[in-house]
Amino acid sequence: MYYDPEKKDHGLPHNPFKSCVVPRPIAWISTISPDGVHNLAPYSQFQNLTFDPPYVMFAANQTTRGKRKDTVVNIEQTGEFVYNMATYDLREAVNRSAAEVSPEVDEFELAGVTKAPSVRVKPCRVAESPVQFECQYHQTLRLPGNGPMGTVDVVIGRVVLVHIKDDAIGLDGRLDVLRIRPLARLGYWDYTTVESAFEMVIPGGNENLLKGLEGEAGSYSATREK
Ligand SMILES: Cc1cc2nc3c(=O)[nH]c(=O)nc-3n(C[C@H](O)[C@H](O)[C@H](O)COP(=O)(O)O)c2cc1C
Repeated sequence: MYYDPEKKDHGLPHNPFKSCVVPRPIAWISTISPDGVHNLAPYSQFQNLTFDPPYVMFAANQTTRGKRKDTVVNIEQTGEFVYNMATYDLREAVNRSAAEVSPEVDEFELAGVTKAPSVRVKPCRVAESPVQFECQYHQTLRLPGNGPMGTVDVVIGRVVLVHIKDDAIGLDGRLDVLRIRPLARLGYWDYTTVESAFEMVIPGGNENLLKGLEGEAGSYSATREK
């Protein structure tokens, strides 16, 4: 089958589009308003863009009332945000923080998670999350769309500090994703987690290409933390 997304003539009981790009990692984005209110919300239209220096992006549709989301407003006003990795253990808190509440609500409290101060930016990190990126705002790309929720703000940020919990790193010095169980969105109301991994290396052995795929283009220094 095929269908035209403008006409939505798929003939299925539910729109299949979001199921066609899966799984989508969930960025749990924390921000702070200029008045000091802490905000936290999940975004699955999320990806890393490049690694040297690292940039990430997420796409925030407008609210059901046709307004920019609080996360976007805060980032554009303060120039900072934090990416917190969402995990299976944190799934209920992630879900609670997606409620559409007024900007005066502290969404760390709503979600029931702990604030950990950041080092280089004002928004706090989620202490329970195993991986957090402190990010500086780079730019917003605003894409026009249909209806109040169709219009979307694609927010790009540069990662200025990476936090990884010691117990998220395995004995081989690599992130232990099977232990972390990152949470990801499927279509409909479905989710998944990483429960298996396998290795595959590009044939041909071009050392620079292989290093780039591993994210090794620069030289990095790391400080381990609890
Ligand atoms: C798992 C999950 C993923 C989500 N991903 C997105 C997304 O990619 N873009 C978006 O606009 N809203 C997304 N939402 C909805 C927002 O989290 C929700 O609108 C939230 O209230 C926004 O909060 P804010 O106004 O404080 O930014 C998602 C919700 C959940 C539960």
